[in-house]
Amino acid sequence: MHILETHLGWVNMTNPIVIKEKIKPFNKTIHVNGDKSLSIRWALLASQAKGKSKAYNILRSLDVISALNCLKKLGIKVVLKKNYCEIESSGLNSFKIKKNLILDAGNSGTLGRLIIGLLVHYNNKVKIIGDESLSKRDFSRVIIPLKKFGASFKYKDKFKLPVEVYGSKNLKPIKYFENKGSAQCKSSVMLAALNTKGETYIKAKKSRDHTEILFKYLKIPISVKKKKSFDEIKIKGGYQFKGFNYRIPSDISSSAFFIVLTLLAKQSKLTIKNVNINPSRIGIIIILKKMGAKISFQNKKIHNGEKVADIIIKSTKKIKPIKCPKNLNSQAIDEFLLIFLVAAKAEGISSFSDLSELNQKESPRLILGSKILNKMGIKTILTKSSIKIFGNPNIKVTNIIKIKDYLKDHRIFMMSMISALTIGGYWKLYDPDSIRTSFPSFLKLINKLRK
Ligand code: S3P
Repeated sequence: MHILETHLGWVNMTNPIVIKEKIKPFNKTIHVNGDKSLSIRWALLASQAKGKSKAYNILRSLDVISALNCLKKLGIKVVLKKNYCEIESSGLNSFKIKKNLILDAGNSGTLGRLIIGLLVHYNNKVKIIGDESLSKRDFSRVIIPLKKFGASFKYKDKFKLPVEVYGSKNLKPIKYFENKGSAQCKSSVMLAALNTKGETYIKAKKSRDHTEILFKYLKIPISVKKKKSFDEIKIKGGYQFKGFNYRIPSDISSSAFFIVLTLLAKQSKLTIKNVNINPSRIGIIIILKKMGAKISFQNKKIHNGEKVADIIIKSTKKIKPIKCPKNLNSQAIDEFLLIFLVAAKAEGISSFSDLSELNQKESPRLILGSKILNKMGIKTILTKSSIKIFGNPNIKVTNIIKIKDYLKDHRIFMMSMISALTIGGYWKLYDPDSIRTSFPSFLKLINKLRK
């Protein structure tokens, strides 16, 4: 049982949800939950700040609760109130590592990988564990660069959890080339650099840049040179920043489910308020616009260095197929299941390549995404890193579709629900409580639009 879970009043949802009808036309305004990447980053950075930090609109999902619980176990004061979360710390190097400490990262790759970057500074052993899905995921991608700083690790099986971290007080800065386009790897190294004396240099393939923006906002010595496909990042370690207040905008990855729902519904319009539209996250908007979607931004502003806007979306009758440019992959990495669904409704063949990273997520999403389309009667051609989707604007589902055994991947559940509501047919969706990982208000919002 998660310590903080009782504050959230979640209802246990164990029975599958059955959807038998398409959604009817709607015209509504909604707010989606706070951004997951920013909520976890705020908590981890607040644990390194001297004094009190407060976050408003923090995402109250299991991934974030796991982060707060890990910090509590490290001796950091964490209070989750109705309107904000407060973290109080003595600053850099102030974790208290108890003997045989075990930290549970739950389902969260972001938490598991980023927190190791902070733990490498402590001599005492810390063991990181995770749930079934996280225990299948690769940690070599952070262990290899963090070893270069001077930390050691023990793991049983091929760089998978559980991983034991044996840090050191005398880490040396490194030069590191991040070539997967993974913000988790880049950020893990950035967090290790935060408290390592000297200058760490990172050459990183483009990926979401929330950590860089937060470092700048906190005046941590960082320089970022943006090149065409890489960024060059330099960080000087050892700077003690103060506690800070932060307002977390809504999550574009959560908004994406409602963007696609509206796009594929009939005669509908939706406004989603105060969404983070960081350019490194809006790949879904760029791709859907290329496919003919009517999406616009209103009330643009900047909050704590992050771009925020209301997103307006209207239903579209004609969807064009796409040959998706590879350079948009990292900007849309969490949204491809939805993009595949849109491609299934397009008039022609769409193709997506260089996407092997999708099989490294909470479940093998490239494989499972293809299987779900096949269940709907859509032909696909799948390789290890690419998919071709033979779209059909008139898809009709005649069989019963069961979505089961998907490692409780929150995004598989929600994409399936959007498919059921827009394609039609009889769908039985198991493990609805998977939404608590990233988007606890998902079903409430669906019900709001179905009224
Ligand atoms: C995240 C980065 C992405 C993304 C994940 C969140 C982050 O993973 O899939 O949901 O907050 O840094 P990778 O960096 O491994 O691509």
